[in-house]
Amino acid sequence: MNKLAVVERGRALARSLTARGSVFPGIPKPIKLLFLLLVFLNSSSFPFLWMIRLWSHPIKAWVHAKTVGHKRYWVGWRRRNIAAGGLAHMRVKTWRRALFDDCDHNMHLSNSSYAKCSDENKIKFCIDAFAPVFVTGVHMALGASHFQYLREIPIGSQYLMETRVGGWGDKWIHCITEFVIYPSKGKKRAHKPDVADKPTALPHIDIPSGTDSGVDTPENGYANGYANGKANGSATTGPNHDELMKRLMVQAREPRADGGIVTCIAITDYCFKQGRVTVPPRIAMHLSLLSDDEGRLAHALKILGGRDQGVKYCRGGWKEDPLADELGRDIALGSDGTQSWAEAGKDYMDGAGVGLLQVALARP
Ligand SMILES: *[C@@H]1O[C@H](CO)[C@@H](O)[C@H](O)[C@H]1NC(C)=O
Ligand SMILES: *[C@@H]1O[C@H](CO)[C@@H](O)[C@H](O)[C@H]1NC(C)=O
Repeated sequence: MNKLAVVERGRALARSLTARGSVFPGIPKPIKLLFLLLVFLNSSSFPFLWMIRLWSHPIKAWVHAKTVGHKRYWVGWRRRNIAAGGLAHMRVKTWRRALFDDCDHNMHLSNSSYAKCSDENKIKFCIDAFAPVFVTGVHMALGASHFQYLREIPIGSQYLMETRVGGWGDKWIHCITEFVIYPSKGKKRAHKPDVADKPTALPHIDIPSGTDSGVDTPENGYANGYANGKANGSATTGPNHDELMKRLMVQAREPRADGGIVTCIAITDYCFKQGRVTVPPRIAMHLSLLSDDEGRLAHALKILGGRDQGVKYCRGGWKEDPLADELGRDIALGSDGTQSWAEAGKDYMDGAGVGLLQVALARP
């Protein structure tokens, strides 16, 4: 077949496709329209779209680092990181709309969609917060997620996902993601009375007290809360879970300083892994060039620029470093000049995990 014939065939095909009623002539038009509507309504869940949304962030960073070189990439990355407030203050944001395919029969964002939809923002957070360390082959493994639903996101509304660090320990780093909606001015006024008597408007919030599942929770278990669920945390004398929850609900009833309403809070626990070896968060932070100390920065840069790009260092080599006990402890300091904010967050969140496990084990 020569070229001309191929072109002619293509044209004929195009004509037949564009001619009215010629596609699947046996199928009635309403069915076709219905099908098109379904395709349209589910278009944001097309195959691979989630992957593309997710992987666009690391791929963009990788391509950027490859084109300008790692050192120059890190300089720019660090500048952006500092401008965003550094690890302690940065808030990584993604906007999304609650579309048909993410919603449930109540015309609200489905409870199960929160995890899927926030994946994109969490991976963006990982890049914005820790990009340099990934050159060592370290990856972040997800250990657990907790979701606390406070109110619904109506179908069609835009919402913001905002991720920040809540705290870290020797193994886990806990990230907090808030889902926020911004009611329009007019709507907000109409909404106000509703907000005022929220205790009745939010009757269905399950405070995970362990009692709602009919489980006989151990004394020191989930019922006693995030704070002292941990056997002997430094927060043992702090407020218990119910009290924290009440505070959270009261706080969520009020709009944020920027006018947003928090609809859900997610806590995700990650750890840094080099192969199967766990890298303590503070070591990963140090290798993420997050220290403000010039000496420490040079120290981290030397490891990243080494022959194996810090692989051995991450796989336990750091323990031989004379600075092993110090590294990472000068990063993300709070207003009091210490990391105590992260310590406090860690105690609450470790407690949450322990409490959950106790509830699970108590099941007959
Ligand atoms: C979503 O979660 C809320 C709060 O826990 C609950 O009241 C609601 O029934 C859940 N929705 C569905 C469809 O399961
Ligand atoms: C918890 O702390 C109390 C008082 O400080 C102590 O008596 C107890 O042995 C500790 N329990 C554990 C499991 O460490």
